[in-house]
Amino acid sequence: MTTGLASTADADRVRQWLVVGASRGGIGAAIAAAAAASGDRVLITGAEAQPLQMPPGVDEYVQLEITDTAGVHALAARFEKLDVLVNCAAIARRDEEYQSAVFRRVIEVNLIAGFDLVNALRPALRQARGNVINIASMYSVFGSPRVPAYGASKAAVAQLTRSLAAEFAADQIRVNAIAPGFIVTEQSARGRADKTHYQAVVARTPAGRWGLPEDLAGAAMFLASDAAAFVTGHTLVVDGGYSIV
Ligand SMILES: NC(=O)c1ccc[n+]([C@@H]2O[C@H](COP(=O)([O-])OP(=O)(O)OC[C@H]3O[C@@H](n4cnc5c(N)ncnc54)[C@H](O)[C@@H]3O)[C@@H](O)[C@H]2O)c1
Repeated sequence: MTTGLASTADADRVRQWLVVGASRGGIGAAIAAAAAASGDRVLITGAEAQPLQMPPGVDEYVQLEITDTAGVHALAARFEKLDVLVNCAAIARRDEEYQSAVFRRVIEVNLIAGFDLVNALRPALRQARGNVINIASMYSVFGSPRVPAYGASKAAVAQLTRSLAAEFAADQIRVNAIAPGFIVTEQSARGRADKTHYQAVVARTPAGRWGLPEDLAGAAMFLASDAAAFVTGHTLVVDGGYSIV
């Protein structure tokens, strides 16, 4: 029997995940570890030659510069079937993004390269009736004066998620996003060094703390599962309540 947009007929089989941008012990690494712990196969990538740490249970690491189109297509060619694509690759250049070249680079990495990646993997996702999880941000919605390109890219990621969900539904592929609140990772290190900013986030967040990468894993496991078979085009906020007050 088929429910929603995804088949449940082979719910027990081992699935193949690709988590792009999981090399630095952050959100992607936590999602990869959770997927591996569930018994699925997981390949991760990062911009670096080696991962800072290999998430437990993950099968393989591949260095991938996400704006390298040939590299993206070479990686995509490895997958005949792909069940879950998680795109966590992104950069922010705090206080530098008013320079046009920096602005363009951030948009290229965070938005355009992610679009090319999903397109390259569409046939493999179609074969598996798979799903895509993009990573948005609080700055998909709020203004971000210190990182204007990052904010513009993340707003576009949420919008692209809706557009691709509508387009890919014909292939039985679901496309969703997660919008994390403020999370302790390498990417946020520069912002966290600003004690005023660090404390302002704690004070505003009803949960009373910054998030940890593991806080995002449950949302990804849900969106990737058949429990979310009728969920597509959605951006799931995981922010300790930051955006509700
Ligand atoms: N940390 C936060 O507070 C926060 C909040 C909202 C959204 N996010 C988003 O979560 C995702 C994961 O970030 P994180 O905080 O875990 O940071 P992270 O630094 O641990 O991960 C970023 C990943 O992106 C990869 N990457 C960067 N530039 C790349 C490039 N040019 N080509 C290929 N890979 C590249 C890095 O290698 C790394 O694996 C990002 O999309 C980020 O924007 C983070």
